[in-house]
Amino acid sequence: MKVSIIGGGGLVGSCAASALQFGGIVREIALVDVNLELAEGQALDLLHGASLISDQKIYGCGTEAVKDSDVICITAGLRRKPDESRLDLINRNVALFRNILADVKQHGLKPSAKVFVVSNPVDVLTYLAVKDLGLPANQVIGLGTVLDTTRLRSMMAQRLDMPPTQVQTLILGEHGDSMVPVWSAAQVAGLPLDKYPGVTPALIAEVEKKTRGSGAEVIKKKGGAGFAVGASIADVIHSIALDQRRILPVSSLQNGAYGLRDVCISVPTVVGAQGVVDCYEIDLWPKEKMALQKSGSVLRGTIDKVMQG
Ligand code: 2OP
Repeated sequence: MKVSIIGGGGLVGSCAASALQFGGIVREIALVDVNLELAEGQALDLLHGASLISDQKIYGCGTEAVKDSDVICITAGLRRKPDESRLDLINRNVALFRNILADVKQHGLKPSAKVFVVSNPVDVLTYLAVKDLGLPANQVIGLGTVLDTTRLRSMMAQRLDMPPTQVQTLILGEHGDSMVPVWSAAQVAGLPLDKYPGVTPALIAEVEKKTRGSGAEVIKKKGGAGFAVGASIADVIHSIALDQRRILPVSSLQNGAYGLRDVCISVPTVVGAQGVVDCYEIDLWPKEKMALQKSGSVLRGTIDKVMQG
C-alpha cells in the first residue's frame, strides 16, 4: 500500500510518517509538501533509521505522488493558537484546504483511493473533501475524535496508575469543544471503570477536563501535537491497509446514525479496505445522545457558513 502525506514536511505529517515506519505495514510513504526541501529532509531522516525498523520506500516529493496512492492523508494547514478553538481556524484554513483538494483532483486519484483528512477543523474539512473530490463518501475519512479518545484513555490510565492499553472508552462527536466522552462505555480490563477503587465523579470530571484541554496544552508547551496524532493516524491507516474492520471513532459523512445527517462527525465506525464499511448506532445514555446531536448541530452550523462563504 502507498500512502501520500500532504503536509509531510510538518510536525503532524512527519510524526505520522514515523508511526507508519515503525508500524512496518504500508509499503511506500510519500511525504508531500510545498516546502520540498523540508519534505526531503524529513524523508532522509526517516530513511537513516530504516535498517533498524522496516523495509519501505520513503521519499519527499510533490503532489504528483497522489495519483497512484492508496491513501492520501492531508495534514497540511495552519495550527490554532492555544486560546483559539479549532472552529476558529475555519476562515484561515478553508481556502488553503480547498486549494489542496483542487490540486489533488487535478493530479487525479485511483478510483479506490481513500482520502484521510487530519487538518483542522477536521470535521468541516472532511465534509468539504466529500463534496469537492467526487469520491464515494465511504472513501473519505476524517481523523475525528480518534486522537481525543486515545488521550482520554491515556490520561485516565495515568491518573489511576493503570496500563493505558487496558483502559477502554471513547469520545464521539466533534473533534473540538463539543466532543462527547462516552462514560457509559468506560471499562478497565473489561470491568466497569466506575467500580474501580478511587474512581469518583470528581475524578472522571477532572480527567475529562484535562482531555478537552489537551490539544491547547500541547500547543502551549511545544507548539503543537505530533507523536500522539501521528500514532492515531497510523492506527486508522493500518485498519484500512489490513482490512481489519476495527470500530474507530473516525469522522465521516453521516446518513442517519443517532439522527445525524449531512454532516461529518465521529460515531462508532467500521474501518476497512474500502474506507468506511459501516457506522453503528450503539445505545448511549440519553444525555450522551443529546450531546452528540448538539455536536452535530454545531458542525452543521459551521458547514452552512462555509458553504455560503
Ligand atoms: C490536536 O488536538 C491537532 O487537533 C489536534 O492536537
